[in-house]
Amino acid sequence: METISQKIPVEKIKSSKIDQVDFDNLAFGSIFTDHMLVCNYKNGTWETPKIIPYQAISLEPSAKIFHYGQSIFEGMKAYKDADEKIWLFRPLDNHRRLNISAERMAIPGIPEEYFMEGLKTLIKLDEKWIPKTDGSALYIRPFIFASGQGFHASPADEYKFLICLAPSGSYFSGKVKVLIEEKYSRSADGGTGFAKAGGNYAGQFFPTQLAIKKGYQQVIWTDDHNHEFIEEAGAMNIFVRIKDTLITAPISDRILDGITRKSILQIAEDEGIATEVRKISVGEVVEAAKDGSLKEMFGAGTAAVISPIATFGYREVDYDLPELENTYASRLKKRIIDIQYNRAKDPFGWRHGV
Ligand code: PLP
Ligand code: COI
Repeated sequence: METISQKIPVEKIKSSKIDQVDFDNLAFGSIFTDHMLVCNYKNGTWETPKIIPYQAISLEPSAKIFHYGQSIFEGMKAYKDADEKIWLFRPLDNHRRLNISAERMAIPGIPEEYFMEGLKTLIKLDEKWIPKTDGSALYIRPFIFASGQGFHASPADEYKFLICLAPSGSYFSGKVKVLIEEKYSRSADGGTGFAKAGGNYAGQFFPTQLAIKKGYQQVIWTDDHNHEFIEEAGAMNIFVRIKDTLITAPISDRILDGITRKSILQIAEDEGIATEVRKISVGEVVEAAKDGSLKEMFGAGTAAVISPIATFGYREVDYDLPELENTYASRLKKRIIDIQYNRAKDPFGWRHGV
């Protein structure tokens, strides 16, 4: 029987843009490879995906994405090892999460085979774009949005699933300063916080801009009830180390179930680091910062990898984290990237060859 990957038509570019790219100075997600995958949902079914040159897409002004924001996405990376073999990290978890987001936003889920085979075919075609410089990788952005038309506020009848690839460097530049937010909320109980829905990010931009004006790079969101507990940051889950225990908030319908987060918890246990998954109150973190028991804070996500936080701001006061040697952040980051780049054993079975 013909597999889906044998059926995916490929229209190749006439000439590659790759020679124009400075792979030693990659920003995050700002240049795109030669090809992209497109798959249309029509008449109640996903059609066969196709790969075409990276290009603009044309939509009717009445497409529901523009009016009601029905859109979801994923973030993944492809890595190349010393033997030029290509690896993905827990890609089936991204597929599963995309479909969880899809259900919440009343978008039809994408079959696993379309996602996985489409992704692998696209990556193989653009494999020269996978950066080999340390700290860089090929960022993968699968996304689905409502292309069907109409001003009626109801789910669209047509959708597009696309995958675009962006050779990328680190997400943050310089030291990371975050602001603990007390006024605005990212999400609420029963809301869409656990979904990777475009609107969750749009809603963060204004409060984040206010934080940026004050000299911070991201906001740390707190619970929407009374802003007492630390939840997650704009593009990453948050870990706090108090004394020698690594703590992170439990996932809920307000928090994205980060793949990096759950990998870190497993690696930490494997390394013998004490972990706690529990509510972390802002008061506890401020107290720990004051009495010196707060050793580290870091964000974790696909784009951000593990990003140590140098300073957090709360109620107009900045608290600097100590500059330690041999941090949990550096130890855990090394373990995770060594698995991702196939430089170490993968006892967890997370690496997935392309
Ligand atoms: N939290 C938010 C809001 C995110 O956007 C991300 C990024 O994907 C994460 C957490 C981390 O998730 P993951 O580790 O799966 O990339
Ligand atoms: C990722 O880490 O992949 C994300 O999706 C975060 C994004 C907002 C850059």
